[in-house]
Amino acid sequence: MTSLPKTQRAWRVVTQGLPKDALRLVTDLPMPTQLEPGRVLVKVEAAALNPVGYKMMRLLPNFLAKRPVTAEQDFSGVIVNRNGTKWADGDAVFGLLGEGSMAEYIAISATQLAHRPTNITPIQASGLGVCTLTAYASLFKLGQLEEGQSVLINGGSTAVGAFATQLAKSKGAKVTAVASGKNEEWCRKLGADEFIDYTKVDIALYLSKNPPATKYHVILEAVGTADPSLYAQSEKYLQPGGVFVSVGPQPHGVRELPMFGRLLFNVLFPGWMGGVSRRWTLVTVHKDGEILEKISTLITEGKVKPIVDSVFEFEDALKAYDRLMTSRATGKVVVKVISDTE
Ligand SMILES: NC(=O)c1ccc[n+]([C@@H]2O[C@H](COP(=O)([O-])OP(=O)(O)OC[C@H]3O[C@@H](n4cnc5c(N)ncnc54)[C@H](OP(=O)(O)O)[C@@H]3O)[C@@H](O)[C@H]2O)c1
Repeated sequence: MTSLPKTQRAWRVVTQGLPKDALRLVTDLPMPTQLEPGRVLVKVEAAALNPVGYKMMRLLPNFLAKRPVTAEQDFSGVIVNRNGTKWADGDAVFGLLGEGSMAEYIAISATQLAHRPTNITPIQASGLGVCTLTAYASLFKLGQLEEGQSVLINGGSTAVGAFATQLAKSKGAKVTAVASGKNEEWCRKLGADEFIDYTKVDIALYLSKNPPATKYHVILEAVGTADPSLYAQSEKYLQPGGVFVSVGPQPHGVRELPMFGRLLFNVLFPGWMGGVSRRWTLVTVHKDGEILEKISTLITEGKVKPIVDSVFEFEDALKAYDRLMTSRATGKVVVKVISDTE
């Protein structure tokens, strides 16, 4: 085992607020000392941000979030203590944990990791965890999407939507992506067969008037919009047995709360009482190394490509949050934990 330092650098969430107020870069965080059985120690090379990170910083009061905690979930790195697990010291891995990837070393369950494909770099691998698992669960566990079927992805240029497009194509399904016009070519390069520009048309209205010849088998709402209209109108363009999967409606302030109420009504009440007679379901991330290994294989085979929007030095993590919070990133926003990482 490599000799390890006693303390490490980490970005810690110390209070509720925007990242610039909530985060501190510390240099004296104690190293994980005793590894419980089944856990390994990983030297982190790069960490990637997810919107849930800054949203929880803003929303959750300190007593609920049990702060201070180390920020973020996604990482790539190298095993430095296999601790009797199936892994070998020196294995290159990627994965996700509940929280704490923005540190030099992490202790993590051996089942929340996968081998980093040899055809991608640690930076490219660092953002695969949360988004690929979300996309995979949405399409295949909840949506039961099959070869030859079709999926509408609202948010084709979100990281979740971009991985969903590639996963759906790898299964042989047809993809219609919704994003702003400037991202059309980007979405098509990922595999989208059809494209709708949400800045030009109201999507629910457009699809109600122009439904696909064969209604969609799955709709993935990968933006997190609170607007319920895409689901409210979905009987017109989603198969009767189809599924509407949402990454979670996130109202922006109290003025959007009534929208949330409308969605709840549509979901909970049957069609004859004014609800929507299509299944609506919420996707959640399960930290599943077996699925990550499947993703790893698809990447090795060239069927799925990692997507990186931008890369920041560890000291510049606040700039990385600024980029993510524009809601305009196309791909993952990555922070290098080892500065000469590729
Ligand atoms: N439930 C879960 O377990 C789970 C897991 C992961 C993520 N999420 C949620 O999923 C959502 C997406 O996360 P992400 O990391 O993939 O986001 P992201 O990559 O940061 O999303 C950025 C993209 O959003 C697009 N966008 C912004 N507003 C849009 C709109 N109104 N319609 C269509 N596209 C829009 C932008 O494209 P344009 O410039 O073209 O608008 C931009 O490319 C977030 O709300 C996140 O919290 C949930």
